[in-house]
Amino acid sequence: MTYFQGKTVWLTGASSGIGLAMAQQLAEAGAHLILTSRRAEVLEQVRSELAHPERHQVLALDLSQPEAAAAEAKTALGDQVIDVLINNAGVSQRSLILDTDMHVYRQLMEIDYFGVIALTKLVLPRMIERRSGHIVTVSSVAGKVGTKLRSGYNGAKFGVIGFMDSLRAETAASGLVVTSILPGFINTQVAHNSLTGDGSALGKPDPDNAGGISAEECARQSLKAIAAQKAEVVVGSGLSKLAPFLQRFAPGLVRRMIAKR
Ligand SMILES: NC(=O)c1ccc[n+]([C@@H]2O[C@H](COP(=O)([O-])OP(=O)(O)OC[C@H]3O[C@@H](n4cnc5c(N)ncnc54)[C@H](OP(=O)(O)O)[C@@H]3O)[C@@H](O)[C@H]2O)c1
Repeated sequence: MTYFQGKTVWLTGASSGIGLAMAQQLAEAGAHLILTSRRAEVLEQVRSELAHPERHQVLALDLSQPEAAAAEAKTALGDQVIDVLINNAGVSQRSLILDTDMHVYRQLMEIDYFGVIALTKLVLPRMIERRSGHIVTVSSVAGKVGTKLRSGYNGAKFGVIGFMDSLRAETAASGLVVTSILPGFINTQVAHNSLTGDGSALGKPDPDNAGGISAEECARQSLKAIAAQKAEVVVGSGLSKLAPFLQRFAPGLVRRMIAKR
């Protein structure tokens, strides 16, 4: 993929799953990576195993505190040019509304929604000034179709698609590119790491994600869509990939199916 050759790509959620697979494929494609997640030592290990490790840097941030994370990043990155920002870090949820504490809703919004806004606002002025840049956010099919056990995650992922639509409209005249990626079920640690009602991690996989496509395939399809400068793309297979289409054209059917699941 020549699109990424020589570009500086700031990738969040690079320590695991889809982000890790993207990091590997972007490094192969000749990108210079800034790798972000909370765990510096894991990112350092990832960096050392990528193609051309010397081209990449680690920037550990906790996106559950978006303003503090953005301030830290501003200091660390200085006036470094970012060509592509990929907001991929995220956390999911597995708990009923009745059982979910308010602080869990806030945490999901901090990471999955405000985290995206904070990093986007950090890179945006320079991209507009240069009239060049590409901002990508990994939302989800859960950003188009609400399901049980994911009420806070659905809210954050729906919201971030709206933010990205607005960003696209506001930056079109400045030549920026804005892409939303909507994965269906992907076989990663996402369910294992998802928050339950009291904020603790679920700590086990779930059959939906385990039956999904691999992180490598998701990364391949996502990077292809980014390189093609698509506005929005659904990535995955089976029902989870079809769901946004069905939701649009047969919403009653989708509501009935989801209520029964
Ligand atoms: N897997 C799916 O089925 C699926 C479907 C639709 C959308 N998605 C989305 O795809 C993205 C990647 O998820 P994944 O499936 O690859 O899950 P994953 O394996 O659990 O990876 C999540 C990544 O986010 C990082 N992260 C979590 N909390 C963070 C925080 N507070 N600050 C900074 N980084 C944080 C994690 O790194 P650290 O632990 O090192 O911080 C990790 O790198 C997420 O936005 C997710 O919502 C996934």
